[in-house]
Amino acid sequence: MLPPDWKEPYRVNIHVLDEQHKKFFDILANLYGAAGKEYDATFLGIRLMELSVFIGMHFDTEELMMSEYHYPGYEEHRKEHELFREKIADFQEDLKMGKAALSVKTVSAWTEWLEHHITNFDKKYSSFLNGKGIH
Ligand SMILES: [Fe+2]
Ligand SMILES: [Fe+2]
Repeated sequence: MLPPDWKEPYRVNIHVLDEQHKKFFDILANLYGAAGKEYDATFLGIRLMELSVFIGMHFDTEELMMSEYHYPGYEEHRKEHELFREKIADFQEDLKMGKAALSVKTVSAWTEWLEHHITNFDKKYSSFLNGKGIH
């Protein structure tokens, strides 16, 4: 699997969200680079915290915009975010307890989740919000 990278087809035409998605891929690329290496648990814990703080902020931004404009797919979309928040929180807990290690496979799975989520969920609010004048 190639390192995580934002690509043009992921554009949602809302500036702040496209910038956040690029940052999301950057954070995953950093984790991808650290995966499988001999870093101490504290270093990896900090990197994971960076991911979890960032996804909290990104998901909150999207959810606020969707709810503000009464986007019909809001609830379904919010649930998808919630599952990913839980997935990362569980991994953080396992890492802390020494029950998990950060592997390329794990980071690749998170990247696939993000690619699938942008393509199947984020792209759907895109035209709706653009139609409300949000760019
Ligand atoms: Fe997103
Ligand atoms: Fe989303």
